[in-house]
Amino acid sequence: MTGRVVYELSMNLRTNPPPFPFIDVAAQRRRLGPAVDAAVARVFNHCQFILGPEVRAFEAELAAFCGARHVVTCASGTDALVLALRAMGVGPGDAVVCPSFTFCAPAEVVALVGATPIFVDVDERTFNIDSRGIAGAVAAAKEAGLEPKAIIPVDLFGLPADHEAIRAAAQAESLLVLDDAAQGFGAMYKGRRLGTFGPATATSFFPAKPLGCYGDGGAVITDDDRLADTLRSLRMHGQGSDKYDNVRIGLASRLDTIQAAILIEKLKIFPEEIEARDRIARRYSEALGDLVTTPLVPSGSSSVWAQYTIRVADGRRDVLAAALKAEGIPTAIYYPIPLHRQQAYKHYPVGKGGVGVSDLLAGEVISLPMHAYLDVATQDRIIVAVRRGLKK
Ligand SMILES: Cc1ncc(COP(=O)(O)O)c(C=O)c1O
Repeated sequence: MTGRVVYELSMNLRTNPPPFPFIDVAAQRRRLGPAVDAAVARVFNHCQFILGPEVRAFEAELAAFCGARHVVTCASGTDALVLALRAMGVGPGDAVVCPSFTFCAPAEVVALVGATPIFVDVDERTFNIDSRGIAGAVAAAKEAGLEPKAIIPVDLFGLPADHEAIRAAAQAESLLVLDDAAQGFGAMYKGRRLGTFGPATATSFFPAKPLGCYGDGGAVITDDDRLADTLRSLRMHGQGSDKYDNVRIGLASRLDTIQAAILIEKLKIFPEEIEARDRIARRYSEALGDLVTTPLVPSGSSSVWAQYTIRVADGRRDVLAAALKAEGIPTAIYYPIPLHRQQAYKHYPVGKGGVGVSDLLAGEVISLPMHAYLDVATQDRIIVAVRRGLKK
């Protein structure tokens, strides 16, 4: 349906429809209710709350889903990044290249392991790392007396980063790649699901993520047997083959068995949900593409649409947000302040190419409601309101 047709349909909409959530976690809960209740009841009955049988089963199913040898689950997406950096041997004196336009976790974990984040810019159309900036970030790290060790591409808003270009640049600079797929897990890049682009991939099961649980959770995905062993040790305080002979300093970071049981049920419907999100994104893009910059999905990639994010230039973004709010339509700004401008991160180096695109995007992006259960009437209501808001 074109934007114009939808706009004309607006005449038929109710005048005061009720507000609705940005991400409707409860809609999926209603669909999965009895299956999830039964799965959780099984855990309550066997009482193996830490690393119980559902954790092993979920790890195997997730590994099969993304075509990887190992999935090592843990307590959050942030912990997954920390565990992976630790397992890859990143620490004090090392520099890790991260995008500036993203959620804070990739830079936060680098600092947490004692290394230094170096910010690199993103591509204006995909919002993901611009691989042309990697050499300049490595140069900035060396000038600061640091050893460039790794890069954390983020698959932002659900779209895979350009992993071929990143791998080439990373190989040229001898950087390890830790893919942050917290938002993009489930998406395809050049015929493969995210999970095996680089030695390690981290993901998050935070409830609002495309594959979320009912609390905190995360996982590291890898094809590397030794790295997987190290990760399993690290998530259990650094234990060795003898449970009480610790061989390294680790963490207590496990995915609860209850969360694994829930995720097993959610994984069954995940492919269908990804398709539903994609249908909604296509409708949005078709209806709004003449008025705003809609998200680009490069050929060879798919997105899981963790967010559907448009760009609205000339200072009209905030006018649009206010207009939508007045109509009971929630929006979100991911991310209003790039990392290189945030108090906790502004003293870290920026790559030689600068981070101008990150600054530009922070002033223009706005995300529309997106989840697999957004019905057509609500999609139309959003589309009509965006078109009306932009005419103001
Ligand atoms: C890109 C990115 N990385 C990492 C994380 C951290 O995940 P968690 O909240 O599970 O710790 C998030 C969560 O929002 C994220 O968006």
